[in-house]
Amino acid sequence: MCGIVGCVLKQKNAAPILLDCISKLEYRGYDSVGIATENNKIYIKKDKGKIIDVNTNLDLADMEGQSGIAHVRWATHGDPNKLNSHPHTDEEGSIAVVHNGIIENYDQIKARLISEGHEFKSDTDTEVIPHLLKDFMNEGLSLEEAMRETVKVIHGAYAIAAVCVDEPGKVVATRKDSPLIVGIGDGEFFVASDSPAILKYTNNIIYPERDEIVTLTMDGVNITDIEGNVLDKEIETIDWTPEMAQKEGFDHFMIKEIYEESDAVRNTLTEKESIREIIDDVKDDINKIVFVACGTSYHASLTGKYLIESMSGITTEVLLASEFKYSAKTLDERTLVIFISQSGETADTLKALDVANETSKTLAIVNVAGSSATRRAKYVIQTQAGPEIGVAATKTYISQLTAIYLLAALLADNQELLDKLEKVPNYIDEILEDVEPLKIMTEKYKYTDDFFYIGRGFVYPTALEGALKLKEITYIHGEGYAAGELKHGPLALIDNCIPVVVILPPGENHRKTMSNLEEVKSRGADVIGIGAKSDEGIINKSKDYFLINDEVDDIIAPLVYIIPLQLMSYYIAVEKNFDPDKPKNLAKCVTVE
Ligand code: G6P
Repeated sequence: MCGIVGCVLKQKNAAPILLDCISKLEYRGYDSVGIATENNKIYIKKDKGKIIDVNTNLDLADMEGQSGIAHVRWATHGDPNKLNSHPHTDEEGSIAVVHNGIIENYDQIKARLISEGHEFKSDTDTEVIPHLLKDFMNEGLSLEEAMRETVKVIHGAYAIAAVCVDEPGKVVATRKDSPLIVGIGDGEFFVASDSPAILKYTNNIIYPERDEIVTLTMDGVNITDIEGNVLDKEIETIDWTPEMAQKEGFDHFMIKEIYEESDAVRNTLTEKESIREIIDDVKDDINKIVFVACGTSYHASLTGKYLIESMSGITTEVLLASEFKYSAKTLDERTLVIFISQSGETADTLKALDVANETSKTLAIVNVAGSSATRRAKYVIQTQAGPEIGVAATKTYISQLTAIYLLAALLADNQELLDKLEKVPNYIDEILEDVEPLKIMTEKYKYTDDFFYIGRGFVYPTALEGALKLKEITYIHGEGYAAGELKHGPLALIDNCIPVVVILPPGENHRKTMSNLEEVKSRGADVIGIGAKSDEGIINKSKDYFLINDEVDDIIAPLVYIIPLQLMSYYIAVEKNFDPDKPKNLAKCVTVE
């Protein structure tokens, strides 16, 4: 999704710093990039393409000014091309605007503005904003007042930042349903879509609310509400460091983040007492739990259903956020609705959260502190994965699972499971100590067109997540299936062209899953077995196999058996020369419904 940055710097030229900041938002997924600075005129450089390519043509040297805005665009309205790239301006080029989100009523506004004589250059929804700002400023309003009037006219989701030649050294920004943070440095003031953009310059952050207007000047930051009242906002310090958002010697963020998974579990386990407090608060008042999430977070939620229903007997449903509204009427005040989201900004999830807040207790399990979900849910559990830059979730998934395991174990008062969780980081580290055999085993599958992943019980969601990782970064079709369900249809597809990854942890489903393994093997499939070390004698009948510590039983297997599946997808993607960090068409944070 689009990313925006704005800055006002007392001592430095804005252009190189804007470029540095916006490059930290590349992970969000984008197709075009642009920068505007202001110094008695607006300087704009923008084009379609990756920052590294566009940068060579940008020639920032002649972009003057100590204030400016920057953008990476993920096309929604209009093709990815230079004309549609942000920043956009009014006709005279006196105001420049970057925008993340969608202006839903832009076509009516545009038609009106055209009838009043305005001329537009792009196909974007965004371009109405500089035209509206200009009209309001022509009536005598300041840029800040014009922004306030503009948000009364536009509908939809937006984070906007603007500069204007008539108000030098200033950036005015606002947000509604799209993320925007404010960074307070030493004589350096920022707005950005996400903290990794500005961590190098400051970790003092303000989180503006919907339709608050942020004004950055050389003297500092002023935030006002929609009436123009000055607000006294709390400055929060985030403990993420710039190094956390660097590759630190790894080839890709994804592999670095896989190697951070044991720490993601360790650190999230420290949330145990705050999770206990939430449970103590709600336990007696709930008779149903509903998880709501998208993508990888949905798979973490499915594991939650297996854990909670099997240990506590509380009816637990799992809904895709984009399909949530059809079930909203089944919620009541005795339902705990749990929203899982690494970003805390997914539009589908936030929409559902707003609806659930009307009837039920809401809990958000989120990795990004201060994100919209953390501010809208009644209860919050912060997962401790640190910043995740790879678009395909890995360490945030494992940290979501950890939080869900803690929740489920504490709900059921299951000390045995809590003890087992403490050992999970070591099991993950054991796998990561020697990944070479897995790499060699996997690379040869780079020409394969389809994979199946099968698992039973707790590791059925693991099969779904393994298949999703494969699709996301290798562009190979992967399908996750409940091991027992394969024979009810998909078995017809199995032949020697389709490898089947069989997830086979020790435990009550072991024997049955083993039968499913034999079933696909006898249909000619290449079986890739992922199982316990002591099972080597039976798993070695598979074409390929990978072995895990025997102590990892089926109940904690989702936290451990996913690691080789993530690694397999990573190695295939690299072997195919794809960038696993930035899969095509996908974005880290999807702020449109
Ligand atoms: C996007 C990402 C996925 C992610 C999903 C949900 O589609 O590409 O990796 O799982 O959003 O994101 P969330 O931030 O809500 O977990």
